[in-house]
Amino acid sequence: MCGIIGYTGQQAALRPLLEGLATLEYRGYDSAGVVVLDDAGATPALTIAKRAGKLGVLVDALRDQDLSGRTGLGHTRWATHGVPNDVNAHPHLSGDGDIAVIHNGIIENFAELKAELLGAGRTFMSDTDTEVVAQLVASLVEQCRRDGNEAPGSALVQAVRIAARRLEGAFSLAFVDRRDPDVIVAIRREAPLVLGRADGASILASDVAGLLAHTRDVEALLNDQVAILTPQGVTVTDLEGNPADGHRFTVDWDIHAAEKQGYSHFMLKEIHEQPGAVRETLRARTDAEGIIVLDELRLDPTELRHMDKVVIVACGTSFHAGMVAKYAIEHWARIPVEVEIASEFRYRDPILSSRMLVVAISQSGETADTLAAAAHARAQHSRVVAITNVVGSSLAREADAVLYTRAGPEIGVAATKTFITQIVALDVLALYLAQLRRALFPEECRDQLARMEALPELIEQVLDCEPQIAELARSFAGAGYVMFFGRHVGLPIAMEGALKLKEISYVHAEGFAAGEMKHGPIALIDSGGPVVALATAGHVRTKILSNIQQVKGRGAVVLAIATEGDTEIKEHADHVVYVPEAHELLYPVLTVVPLQLLGYHIATVLGRDVDQPRNLAKTVTVE
Ligand code: AGP
Repeated sequence: MCGIIGYTGQQAALRPLLEGLATLEYRGYDSAGVVVLDDAGATPALTIAKRAGKLGVLVDALRDQDLSGRTGLGHTRWATHGVPNDVNAHPHLSGDGDIAVIHNGIIENFAELKAELLGAGRTFMSDTDTEVVAQLVASLVEQCRRDGNEAPGSALVQAVRIAARRLEGAFSLAFVDRRDPDVIVAIRREAPLVLGRADGASILASDVAGLLAHTRDVEALLNDQVAILTPQGVTVTDLEGNPADGHRFTVDWDIHAAEKQGYSHFMLKEIHEQPGAVRETLRARTDAEGIIVLDELRLDPTELRHMDKVVIVACGTSFHAGMVAKYAIEHWARIPVEVEIASEFRYRDPILSSRMLVVAISQSGETADTLAAAAHARAQHSRVVAITNVVGSSLAREADAVLYTRAGPEIGVAATKTFITQIVALDVLALYLAQLRRALFPEECRDQLARMEALPELIEQVLDCEPQIAELARSFAGAGYVMFFGRHVGLPIAMEGALKLKEISYVHAEGFAAGEMKHGPIALIDSGGPVVALATAGHVRTKILSNIQQVKGRGAVVLAIATEGDTEIKEHADHVVYVPEAHELLYPVLTVVPLQLLGYHIATVLGRDVDQPRNLAKTVTVE
């Protein structure tokens, strides 16, 4: 959720901190702040600047400040405890002003710790759980110093290790101590933290985007590891102080991939990148004979062949990709599939076994609910396959196997290219399972793959509908409510279209199973109210036509997404956007594109902040 960055090196820290925050702002943008440790004078001092609002507000506030310290921390916040204001913004200081901390995550036992610290005479300025950590660590530093830990950083490191044993919840935390000018100490548990080295500097960030200006060689801290950063290097230990190693990897994209490249928003750029992204997802998935080989899957094919059931867990848009995959896996591989929202799954005592394959989908690989669901499944002896876009992410590391979507960096909060590539990766997995179980003949698998390989070209054609969608968006933007409906694979796309629209335009939108309309939702139809119907070719098309008639008869204005050549649809719908003909199970990859564009253009007509919609964050690392 929050973005955190730390820098200690040869140059003034403020610039790399602010540049790093700019790349991490998509993780949260309620407020932003920095602390810089200045040791130029006789007494080293911590200078803090923090402001409610987006990073730009902080940058303006810092414009005339001369901060030359070479060690500092920065934070961009998605509020959990306490409203987004200046006081609750990070960094937080201990009462004595010696320790500053930034935090991503939630300290679940903060109330108990706060009561204890209040009892010990400490006072609090903010409503946050984070300030409790600052105060706790400060009191432990005092104790460690009394016990003789005088070497640079050693009292702070000791204090952080002891404090970590008392903290419950998910967190990545980074600290500086005014008395140790060149040292940053960091720890993580269930919230991401990555480390890098470049040009005499050590840098930490909550994801690789924050490091890419400096290096592509990254070390991800693992749970309960402590990192000590100095300009000379990074040391990683466990909670006992034993040397440890994080997970090292090289990022295969550079900082330019995370720039807008002439588009007005990241979301629009990412929608247009979808053909290339799908090509990447499909690259090198077969051998010379056209047999699917998923080398990165690292699971015993015999074990996979004998799975009784597939359980998919995910949240938000990734959950919709899982819904789409259910149709493909059941149809091609003939294995029953359950799809469940990760945050519900983990709390309902699901029946799992070693003969169930759990597929955890998360573009970020850091969604707390999905990570917890995957961990629960592994504890019940199920095998977990991760479908994720982020190499080195927690989900990729903690799953038994991983299938990367290779969509490249996605910065817009609204997931677009990661959604389409999740569907494609899941389709590949479905065909792989079908191949292992001999549920399809090899030539049937090859035919399906050939159809999938044509998808990038077809998506290009769909993107040509943008001017038509932009025009429609002008007439739909005034609606208070937009209803989406579909059947079969059209249902998850209706839900995804509604999610895209509501999250970036704040227009109320819902997606329904078209057959359910008559059981209640049709009461919402008002004269002139827009309805989007997924009406592509297939075995449910005629049923959808009837559902369109039902809402038309009650005054709805219908936009149908239909297959090229379907002229009959014009007799039913007020507006038609065509997509090229495709296999029925592959339509979602095409039909979602006009809905992404519709959400985007309605949001721009309404003047919304498309890439950073209110109350949301790209990576949801809290429950
Ligand atoms: C998508 O547009 C959303 N912003 C959101 O629903 C997202 O899909 C969800 O938070 C899950 O994220 P993940 O894929 O990173 O796990």
